[in-house]
Amino acid sequence: MLGVLLTMTDRQWLLFTMLLVVPFTSSQSTDPSVPAIIPLAVRSPYLNIWTNGSKPGFSWPVFWNTDITAWEGMIRIDDKNYQWLGVSGLFASYTPANFTKAKITPTQTILTYQAGPAELMVTFLSPIEPTDPIKQSIPFSYLALDINFTDNVQHNVQVYCDMTGEWLTPNTADMITWASVSTGTSSFHQVQLQANQSFIEGRQDRANDVTMILATQSDQQVSIRVAHDVDARGQFPQDGSVSGTSIVPPAQMGNPYPVFAITKDLGNITQTSSPMVWAIGAYRNPSISFVTSTGDTQDRAPLFVSSYSTISDVVDAFIVDHPKAKARADVLDERIATAGSNISAPFQALTALAARQAIGATELTISKGSDGQWNTSDTKMFMKDIGNSGRVNPVENIFAAFPFFLFINSTYAGQLLSPLLEFQDTSNTAQPFAARDIGQNYPKAVGNNVKHQQGVEYSGNMLIMSLAHARASGDGTLISRHYRLLRSWADYLVDSSICPPDVTTIDQEQQSNSTNLAIKGIIGIKAMAEISSALNQTADATYYSQFASTFASEWHAVALSTDGSHILPSYGSATTSWAQMYNLFADRLLGTNLVDNNIYASQTQYYQTLISNSFQSGLPLDNTTDIANAAWTLFTAATVTDTAVRDSLIAPVWTHAVTSPHPLSVRFKVDSTDVPPTSGAASPAMGAMFAPLALNLPNLAIVAPPIPPAPRSSGSPADSSSKHRSAGPIAGGVISGLALVAFSIIGVLFWRKRRDKGNMDIETFPSKPMEVYTSLTLGSNDHSSPQDQTTQTSLPMIMSSKAREAMARMVQNHPAHDPSPNTSLASGSRSTPASSREPPTVASGSGSGPRGNTSRSRSANLSNTEVVGLRVEVENLKRVMQRLQVERVESPPSYAA
Ligand SMILES: *[C@@H]1O[C@H](CO)[C@@H](O)[C@H](O)[C@H]1NC(C)=O
Ligand SMILES: *[C@@H]1O[C@H](CO)[C@@H](O)[C@H](O)[C@H]1NC(C)=O
Ligand SMILES: *[C@@H]1O[C@H](CO)[C@@H](O)[C@H](O)[C@H]1NC(C)=O
Ligand SMILES: *[C@@H]1O[C@H](CO)[C@@H](O)[C@H](O)[C@H]1NC(C)=O
Ligand SMILES: *[C@@H]1O[C@H](CO)[C@@H](O)[C@H](O)[C@H]1NC(C)=O
Ligand SMILES: *[C@@H]1O[C@H](CO)[C@@H](O)[C@H](O)[C@H]1NC(C)=O
Ligand SMILES: *[C@@H]1O[C@H](CO)[C@@H](O)[C@H](O)[C@H]1NC(C)=O
Ligand SMILES: *[C@@H]1O[C@H](CO)[C@@H](O)[C@H](O)[C@H]1NC(C)=O
Ligand SMILES: *[C@@H]1O[C@H](CO)[C@@H](O)[C@H](O)[C@H]1NC(C)=O
Repeated sequence: MLGVLLTMTDRQWLLFTMLLVVPFTSSQSTDPSVPAIIPLAVRSPYLNIWTNGSKPGFSWPVFWNTDITAWEGMIRIDDKNYQWLGVSGLFASYTPANFTKAKITPTQTILTYQAGPAELMVTFLSPIEPTDPIKQSIPFSYLALDINFTDNVQHNVQVYCDMTGEWLTPNTADMITWASVSTGTSSFHQVQLQANQSFIEGRQDRANDVTMILATQSDQQVSIRVAHDVDARGQFPQDGSVSGTSIVPPAQMGNPYPVFAITKDLGNITQTSSPMVWAIGAYRNPSISFVTSTGDTQDRAPLFVSSYSTISDVVDAFIVDHPKAKARADVLDERIATAGSNISAPFQALTALAARQAIGATELTISKGSDGQWNTSDTKMFMKDIGNSGRVNPVENIFAAFPFFLFINSTYAGQLLSPLLEFQDTSNTAQPFAARDIGQNYPKAVGNNVKHQQGVEYSGNMLIMSLAHARASGDGTLISRHYRLLRSWADYLVDSSICPPDVTTIDQEQQSNSTNLAIKGIIGIKAMAEISSALNQTADATYYSQFASTFASEWHAVALSTDGSHILPSYGSATTSWAQMYNLFADRLLGTNLVDNNIYASQTQYYQTLISNSFQSGLPLDNTTDIANAAWTLFTAATVTDTAVRDSLIAPVWTHAVTSPHPLSVRFKVDSTDVPPTSGAASPAMGAMFAPLALNLPNLAIVAPPIPPAPRSSGSPADSSSKHRSAGPIAGGVISGLALVAFSIIGVLFWRKRRDKGNMDIETFPSKPMEVYTSLTLGSNDHSSPQDQTTQTSLPMIMSSKAREAMARMVQNHPAHDPSPNTSLASGSRSTPASSREPPTVASGSGSGPRGNTSRSRSANLSNTEVVGLRVEVENLKRVMQRLQVERVESPPSYAA
């Protein structure tokens, strides 16, 4: 307590001391099902205002990071003043209105109060506009006040609302400037920082270039005024107006605080026939600095500028639109509530709370064409990684939120992917897998080529989302335009997904060979197959589809616990270990059916046991942590085969929402209300609450323009496709070399199996691909001496991580001959016997990597993990050959050359 007192600012101290002397008369009734922090105006990364859900009329509203953004609401009834928002009543005689109930819908927070003889209904409406992107792009919210006198007698009423410069900056010393405007339609304050640099965030995540708006419809009874807080908030309770000294800009933000007030005299009424409406907004123009595919930096404007030429026009249109906006919001709220009605009440409550949070982290933008006109076909959506890193379009959180965007209008989902795809479809992509975002600091979407080690994670996310968007919208423009880029990521997944080299999961866990991650990669490959198929690229479709199903059966063979009860967190981990297999959601969402229905059922059973034994208050991410992830829990809940298990996964997430002292956070501790580090408060990832609903969305037939021709510039991801194809004609020459390698590997396995009979049970991992190669082992083990074996084991690892380079080198070493077009996988077995040729030189070179050294130094006793490793390596070889086969099948024209 003492610590708190010492860190208080002067004003907080003043408030605090007044609090002690002012008798607290109201009896606050608190609905236990209201979240601790509730959304008020949540429409963009900079209009993101929340308040204490147990005392909305007696606490300051806060920015999403709980920094104060003072916002005051009062009503004067027959000379007596009541306060329904904020805490300014401490400056004067006042009575806090009695808060009676709160209702939270996806677009609205409706607070009901008793203020003496009046019932007040205060509605904070943050529109979500699924059908009108222009309206969606206006970062404004409504505050509407309905008044009703329960005694049915006329009373004399004035109402008051204000905000302060705290909406712009937390620094009292910052200079702010303003104008108060009347257009005839609307009256509004617009307030800015004097130092209003574009694209810069100052302290506490506030943008330097925000213009705050507080507006109402013009009326003779409206008065709009800028005065110091003590004056404005002091005068209104006495006079029912703010007419005293105005202050002139610029002024310091604080101490004393200029407040921007709008009051209205409603006269003698028994009730309001239409509500008193204020609009509150935070706009910026330009919104985003974006680096395009040509490398140019583009200043992107909020989309609404294409329809309105001045901010006055926007304010006028927004204010006048309130009745219709409210009607649209009611329809959307109803649609979401109905969709969730056959799941559970906590589920409905979560979707209601999450909707604004998800879309409120985004901005919808437009660019200017070379003709200087707005290019309306270039609408892009940007997302700030609120509550976490502040990155631009954070792929993992877009992935989590994707169910929401698919549900609302999949066009928005595509507009979130588009900047990611466009930035990476350039020659400046530095890595063979997908980037994590397009900028480290919102709102600068300048790209992010920082090397990362989560290639499977991010490539899988991008492929899965690209297909999900095309399916839900029927719009194949993105997958067609970026086809080669997507394919380059799929190729990476082919190389890497079965043993993901990712070292840290996005959940900040150190985990190698995560089964949850591997299956995401495999689903990503299958997504590529479906993308290819939608674009009539039948050879690619077959190619990726084959890999996906082969890998999926490999995965099934190694991912399960020995008792078959559940999926292990990583290959070969202890039978008692477990994790939430949330990436299976993608298998369900895309209908890829790569994972056996029996596994869904047994996994469900396993979750049920875990929950009833130990985790009624939330299922953690895995057996090593007490932290649960609300987003992934809803993904998991969408995959289980039993509705009771689904509901017992979801219910604790709602309990977390009700108790957490932050805007709904992603990560929470299951055994306490302590907030874990980087909890992701107010994160858009909570769009994941819509995961169970996304499964019911219909798939549309995908209509796509033709795939554009490959650009000529070298080094672009598109080039991987030409490499991809050019290997075809000479594949026959390579196959024999590869067969030789495979030959040796199998020999090693065979030799080891014989040697370590007692220690190792290779049959624990039955697999089709093994059988294919068994024929190769006949007679070949003679050629594998123990000395050979050490180098040989390391070889295929290199093959796996660098399959394409290895292939390319081998192609160079083995000029085309014997291009038999019908060479099949099986025919590999008729290749040259090992004795007649030396292994390709690539083999010895490849033994030098760190993994090679490790395997060399190991004893010959193979652990389960090693067995898996060897099996996977054999699989890698098979895949190289399979690839060659497909490539030769699809590129007959180059044969002649
Ligand atoms: C709040 O409720 C209490 C108890 O019913 C009542 O005494 C008080 O006058 C009410 N306050 C207001 C502002 O209506
Ligand atoms: C989705 O949004 C687009 C424009 O952004 C609009 O044309 C379309 O009608 C919307 N679809 C639905 C189902 O609302
Ligand atoms: C006013 O009273 C009517 C009739 O009881 C009710 O339907 C309406 O919701 C009330 N409005 C407010 C703002 O309380
Ligand atoms: C915003 O910054 C620009 C350029 O620095 C300046 O010309 C303008 O006056 C500023 N706007 C306000 C309202 O201070
Ligand atoms: C409101 O009613 C009071 C008395 O009840 C009266 O004095 C006053 O003039 C009325 N105001 C208006 C605007 O009608
Ligand atoms: C794919 O082929 C079908 C049938 O020939 C055709 O209707 C469709 O337009 C083609 N799609 C693309 C993207 O080329
Ligand atoms: C939890 O998981 C770890 C890592 O997967 C494993 O080593 C450990 O044995 C598991 N602990 C229990 C109690 O199952
Ligand atoms: C909300 O206000 C109540 C009453 O003052 C307080 O006990 C509670 O801690 C506040 N909640 C948060 C999350 O600040
Ligand atoms: C993944 O598993 C394979 C096979 O068990 C092993 O060779 C490889 O080293 C593992 N990867 C990591 C990063 O631990």
